[in-house]
Amino acid sequence: MNVRFEPSGPLRGQLRVAGDKSVSHRAAILGAMASEPVLIRNYLGAADTGSTLSALRELGVIVQEQGDEVLIRGCGLRNAQVPSGPIDVGNAGTLMRLLPGWLAFQLDATFILDGDSSIRRRPIDRVAEPLRLMGAQIEATDGRYPPFTLHGTALQGIEYELPIASAQVKSCVLLAGLVTEDTTVIEPVPTRDHTERMLLAAGAPVQRSGDAVAGYRTSVGNADELELETIDVPGDLSSAAFLITAGVLVSGSRLVLEGVGVNWTRAGFLRILERMGAIVLGELEPVGEFGTGEPVADLDVRSAPIEGTTVEPHEVPLAIDELPLVALVGCFAEGETAVRGAAELRVKESDRIATVVEGLRGLGGDIEATEDGFVVRGTGGLRGGQIDAHGDHRLALLGAVAGLASQEGVEVVGMDAAAVSYPGFTDDIKQLVA
Ligand code: S3P
Repeated sequence: MNVRFEPSGPLRGQLRVAGDKSVSHRAAILGAMASEPVLIRNYLGAADTGSTLSALRELGVIVQEQGDEVLIRGCGLRNAQVPSGPIDVGNAGTLMRLLPGWLAFQLDATFILDGDSSIRRRPIDRVAEPLRLMGAQIEATDGRYPPFTLHGTALQGIEYELPIASAQVKSCVLLAGLVTEDTTVIEPVPTRDHTERMLLAAGAPVQRSGDAVAGYRTSVGNADELELETIDVPGDLSSAAFLITAGVLVSGSRLVLEGVGVNWTRAGFLRILERMGAIVLGELEPVGEFGTGEPVADLDVRSAPIEGTTVEPHEVPLAIDELPLVALVGCFAEGETAVRGAAELRVKESDRIATVVEGLRGLGGDIEATEDGFVVRGTGGLRGGQIDAHGDHRLALLGAVAGLASQEGVEVVGMDAAAVSYPGFTDDIKQLVA
């Protein structure tokens, strides 16, 4: 589906963004692992989080949906059922990488996981390696891609240093670690910590320590069961980021986004934007906090002149999904904007270094790819034109925001990809420009 986004008048008003995708996936999976029913409020209704509910049903979980509330009647830690066929993760990388952490300790059970064509080019060796070290057996296509087969077994604890900063891999190992004496994950730089926070709330023995020199350590040990009555999913900062960017770039805008998750391990984009001169007011969680719940804030956004900045490697995991938006904002900035140390972007729903650079160039941006990021020379605006989403939801939404802030408008080829994380985007924009 091709959709045109014309240059927009100021965005004004207030709205509540839908539930966080990362937290929704985790809430459903932990709910499935719990023994008692878990009520999830503000669960994201989107294609990716729908894939998680379908996958869990295949595993014997009972899922009752009513509006944005989902009641999960799980199987308990060790009683997932073996589905009759492969589990389809759709387009959901988080599901593909977290679920094996639970399935790996289902004794004598074999599972096959597969997904769409984008999933089939996203490596799973990064979770297969630690799970093998724990004792699980995994056979992947060409050694590293879906579809892959996982044989569950009794697991042993490991101390695992992540070769790449990835919250998905960390989460997978921590879930598997719930049935071991002691499992520790060491991260070079912090990544989003929703899993740790939720496991703590569920009564699992989670311990965290460390710093930039020693690495950030998270340990879990034997949990008899997970106990979670209710989980409130915060508004999705990664979805809000598209509206925030539109508000910052379209002159005269002022909008308030309510109930947005501001866990500091997710809010890197807001700190980068602030450096660029953007005005986004709201009480963010202080950096370095080992919180237990998910803090939320109302964000008050105004348009403002923007300057270039450099995003350094240690900031990358804290803003990973928003880096395409940093490139877009960089096009409107004065001076140069660079992102370094973000090679991970190449294995997202598309090769986001290649697709962002090609896409923004097509709209008149002066941007170049590097091995591990990009460099943008700001020209104060974007002409507009056509952008191909390449089946990537964040690229479709990037194109849409670019259109609103552009001189001539943007046609997004494949706007339907946005349904993966933010099906309500076009309606939200209509409400804000009305
Ligand atoms: C996610 C972690 C990030 C992010 C993805 C969601 C998560 O991936 O890009 O959209 O929910 O844990 P990595 O952990 O692979 O960097």
